[in-house]
Amino acid sequence: GKVAVLMGGQSAERDVSLMSGAGVLAALRSRGVDAHAFDPAQQGMHELRSQGFSRCFIALHGRYGEDGTVQGALELLGIPYTGAGVLASSMAIDKVMTKRIWIAEGLSTPRHVLLQRGQSNSEQLLSLPRELGLPLIVKPVREGSSLGVTKVTDASQVQAAVQAAAAMDADIMCEQFISGDEVTCAVLGAGDSARALPVIHIVAPEGQYDYQNKYFTDSTQYRVPCDLPAGEEEAIQALVLKAYKVLGCRGWGRLDVMIDAATRKPYLLEINTAPGMTSHSLVPMAAKAVGISYEELCVSLLASASL
Ligand code: DAL
Ligand code: MG
Repeated sequence: GKVAVLMGGQSAERDVSLMSGAGVLAALRSRGVDAHAFDPAQQGMHELRSQGFSRCFIALHGRYGEDGTVQGALELLGIPYTGAGVLASSMAIDKVMTKRIWIAEGLSTPRHVLLQRGQSNSEQLLSLPRELGLPLIVKPVREGSSLGVTKVTDASQVQAAVQAAAAMDADIMCEQFISGDEVTCAVLGAGDSARALPVIHIVAPEGQYDYQNKYFTDSTQYRVPCDLPAGEEEAIQALVLKAYKVLGCRGWGRLDVMIDAATRKPYLLEINTAPGMTSHSLVPMAAKAVGISYEELCVSLLASASL
């Protein structure tokens, strides 16, 4: 039947989604799938049914795509879709909710302070460097691709960083900075058959793996197989697998992790339940390392589409 590749959407990551979607669309078509682009920002979700689509590949990132809303609409329409369901998607988009679950399950994640809906006062901002140390990270609670994220190295920068995050989300998370190795690890599947792909060690120019260095420069290094000390890759794979399962994810996900340089302890940063599929993205890179081509990855994700 007809397959819709949901791409575009209305989040700040719209442009990234259009790149992911273009890749997925071409891959599915090259394998003979009757796939068509569908942008929920330009067409109503109900049109999926009137246009005869029988499955959806979700290549949307961020809010109104990766956050359970589109998943909920597809549940109501009865159209199977790729990736996490409604609850897991809505928890995973929220970096603070995700941390609460991981903490409750005994999984390590950097310490954080939530500034909720403009309720932060200047005293609270002043106390952040004391509570979290410096540098610290300021992030919108529900964004991706590092949009609105600032690494604060001096207390005088806190206010501007909070303002930058506030432009993207009413809720802001301030987080302890873990200095060390930045890695990412993808998980494919669900429940007992979920498995982790190889870990990728990301080495970005000046340690800034930001929007520019994620998608537009070619100076970021991606080390896969990774060059971590013996045993660390397996430990990270076990950690992310547990982190994925406790959120109830299915289909796929990619978890970002920092390894403390001094203690070598891994800390979970976040999970992406509709990870990037651009030419610079990491899940396709990890899949390739175990012999799964971009096209095969797309076809097998589509085959896992469910309600
Ligand atoms: N949020 C982007 C698309 C990613 O995690 O790949
Ligand atoms: Mg993310």
